[in-house]
Amino acid sequence: MRSILAILTISILFSSCSKDKDRNFTIPKDYRSWEKPVKKVLDYQITGHGNSFRIMYANEISYTAKRIKAKNGNWKVIMPEGSVIIKEMYNKRKDINKKDPTCTIMVKGKKGDPDFGWSYYMKKPGNKIMKVESKMCIGCHEAANERHPYFDKNKEGIFRDFLFVSFVR
Ligand code: HEC
Repeated sequence: MRSILAILTISILFSSCSKDKDRNFTIPKDYRSWEKPVKKVLDYQITGHGNSFRIMYANEISYTAKRIKAKNGNWKVIMPEGSVIIKEMYNKRKDINKKDPTCTIMVKGKKGDPDFGWSYYMKKPGNKIMKVESKMCIGCHEAANERHPYFDKNKEGIFRDFLFVSFVR
């Protein structure tokens, strides 16, 4: 038990002080010109979230993601370094495309960085962007790496690099 606690403490310390440069991530002004991985507005319910309308955008490099065969023969997807995925959330359909919506953001760093290279951010209207250091986001996003109840459900149950939506073209 003590060693588990020690590992947890170390990993929390590590993740809260090793990514200073990511703290400066800013949302690019032109992100709404990026391609959408899903064309329609998503409005099915996600457990633990209120009703919301969601639109995603991803930068060009995200769409260069490929499926690769793992050593055990299973397929997996590893997102390229520099991938940025921005998800806008609205409480009301009529607010869609309004200025300064709530955004959740995932940014892929280098191989070997903590949390499989992902940094998670949140931006609330009128507030600065915040890096999410807790396991709140990853705790749910790890479900994307197996069959899950959302979107296309990852029916083959392949490792999706923590993304619910596929970027493999
Ligand atoms: C309870 C589960 C849950 C939690 C917690 C959660 N997400 Fe998600 N997220 C989803 C689902 C499901 C999708 C798929 C698209 C949709 O239905 O909105 C998604 C999609 C996304 C996407 C688009 C890429 C993808 O995975 O398809 C981003 C970016 C994202 N979430 C960021 C975050 C961030 C940042 C946090 C923490 C602040 C977070 N999410 C917390 C469930 C969750």
